[in-house]
Amino acid sequence: MARYKIAWLPGDGIGVEVLDAAKIVLDKLSLDAEYIHGDIGWEFWCKEGDPFPERTVDLLQHVDAAMFGAITSKPAKAAQAELAQPLQAKNLSYRSPIVRMRQLFDLYICLRPCKAYPGNPINHKEGIDIVVFRENTEDLYAGVEFSPVPPELSATLSKLSKQYKPFQDLPGEQYAVSCKINTRKGSERIIRAAFRFAKENNRKKVTVVHKANVVRATDGLFLETAKEVARDFPGIQMDEANIDAMTMWLLKNPFNYDVLVAPNLYGDIISDLCAQMVGGLGFGCSGNIGEKLAVFEPTHGSAPKYAGQSKVNPIATILAAKMMLDWLGEKEKADRIEKAVALVIKEGKVRTYDMGGKNTTVEMAKQIAAKI
Ligand SMILES: NC(=O)c1ccc[n+]([C@@H]2O[C@H](COP(=O)([O-])OP(=O)(O)OC[C@H]3O[C@@H](n4cnc5c(N)ncnc54)[C@H](O)[C@@H]3O)[C@@H](O)[C@H]2O)c1
Repeated sequence: MARYKIAWLPGDGIGVEVLDAAKIVLDKLSLDAEYIHGDIGWEFWCKEGDPFPERTVDLLQHVDAAMFGAITSKPAKAAQAELAQPLQAKNLSYRSPIVRMRQLFDLYICLRPCKAYPGNPINHKEGIDIVVFRENTEDLYAGVEFSPVPPELSATLSKLSKQYKPFQDLPGEQYAVSCKINTRKGSERIIRAAFRFAKENNRKKVTVVHKANVVRATDGLFLETAKEVARDFPGIQMDEANIDAMTMWLLKNPFNYDVLVAPNLYGDIISDLCAQMVGGLGFGCSGNIGEKLAVFEPTHGSAPKYAGQSKVNPIATILAAKMMLDWLGEKEKADRIEKAVALVIKEGKVRTYDMGGKNTTVEMAKQIAAKI
């Protein structure tokens, strides 16, 4: 029996190609692993009415880790229209499988390292090395949303909130409400994970990203919790910044930042910005990490316009595979992948279109594998 069981979830579009590319690199390392395919994505929504079928949920309960490619998702009306005819009357509603996976398996850490590998022609600046911890299960992604707004909710809000007054007489279908829900436990564990990472990796500073001056209840709780957690890590400096200011400061002075921690939505925004500063979506890798399971993925989507062309950059996914090896405790193999990626970028002989080159996804993967 293989040492590791790894769920292999290619999904849609370029998800399939980038996962195939990562496999070329993993195979070079002779990792003692069994890779088990799992169905996920748009095809299964259309055919079965569920983009994250029960059999895939079950698979994830029995593996050590998972690699995920990307999925296509579309707005509600388009999703309904593409459902197989017999399913159309069943009142099904599409929900992103990756968001569901994060909540179902309590993958509360979204870890996104953003490192500018030397010589990458699309680095914003050389030397950037920022690690983002994004809370992954709550906040505005809790899925507690109302559109139209039911009269009971409107009546309760009228009773409880003065600020609700301008909205209270609106007909329910004229507005929508999405709840931002942040718990003390959810905030504490992501903030603690960020500080622990900083301590273990010799990082000096954790910056807490929020908007507590306006969004007082939820972001206030997040910031207060951060101040409490910081007391347990006297060797690490705690810094804080509003999300809006943060986007400007990051671009201007990226070297002032080390580890960032944020609630779900701000974390989503800030990690895309950081990824863009180190080469964009072709370099953005991510881990969705819980206590029992971790799912690693590139941050990009299924890029339908490039699907099937072997054109996109597989480095984000190859670095996600490196993160998976780190998580499994295979540090030496993880380091070999990272060194090979860094070498190929530095040499600049093989480059995909986003780096200004003409090489294919497969050529990039093979070149990285050859350097291992
Ligand atoms: N985690 C996910 O699976 C995920 C994330 C984002 C979007 N999506 C879905 O993906 C579909 C397409 O969305 P989109 O076009 O807005 O975003 P996308 O990330 O799929 O692609 C946007 C653009 O980024 C570039 N790009 C993406 N990956 C690249 C790579 N590896 N190398 C080089 N360039 C790359 C391409 O120019 C591409 O057209 C949508 O259905 C969306 O809902 C899925």
